[in-house]
Amino acid sequence: MNLIFATNNPNKVSEVKKVIGDKFEVVSLKEFGFTEDIPEPHDTLEENAYEKSSVIHQRFGVNCFSEDTGLEVPALNGEPGVKSARYAGEVCSASDNIDLLLSRLEGIENREAQFRTVVSLILEDTEYQFEGIAKGKIIHSRRGEKGFGYDPIFVPEGYDITFAEMDASEKNSISHRAKAINKLVEFLKNY
Ligand code: IMP
Repeated sequence: MNLIFATNNPNKVSEVKKVIGDKFEVVSLKEFGFTEDIPEPHDTLEENAYEKSSVIHQRFGVNCFSEDTGLEVPALNGEPGVKSARYAGEVCSASDNIDLLLSRLEGIENREAQFRTVVSLILEDTEYQFEGIAKGKIIHSRRGEKGFGYDPIFVPEGYDITFAEMDASEKNSISHRAKAINKLVEFLKNY
């Protein structure tokens, strides 16, 4: 089965293709020839994930899935959450977002955090959602060069290294995105 993955983020494409392996054929938007930006205008990961999959489904009538991910920090009332990509402003880098998060956490003892991914699958005109969570904590300064986004400051529960210090295969064995995608794969296998 061919499935369009409605994202323009190459890091997500590479992670998801590794998790799905050869179980299903995943086609990125770039490979599909769609280069427009899809907006993420809503206040929840669930609505934004649906926005992305439904834009592609309505436009092309294909089976597809998308995902939206946020880093949720309870001591900051769930920030950056759904705003994770644009935390430091409409035009900002991952490094700007990390700087802002570290400055907001200055002097706060509770540094617990979680990544939460919501996958939205549209299959034969019906939507299904799958959630994956990775719990951990935010450290005080960056460590590691791998991964992307907030990975250099996130240490997952049970580990001493950040996601950015892990090989892709190690991150993929415990990450929020992998957990949500594995649920999607199980669902598709039983469909
Ligand atoms: P979005 O899902 O594309 O809206 O991404 C939300 C934000 O979270 C972006 O700034 C990403 O860089 C960041 N993000 C998403 N997934 C991960 C991850 O696995 N590790 C670190 N940062 C991530």
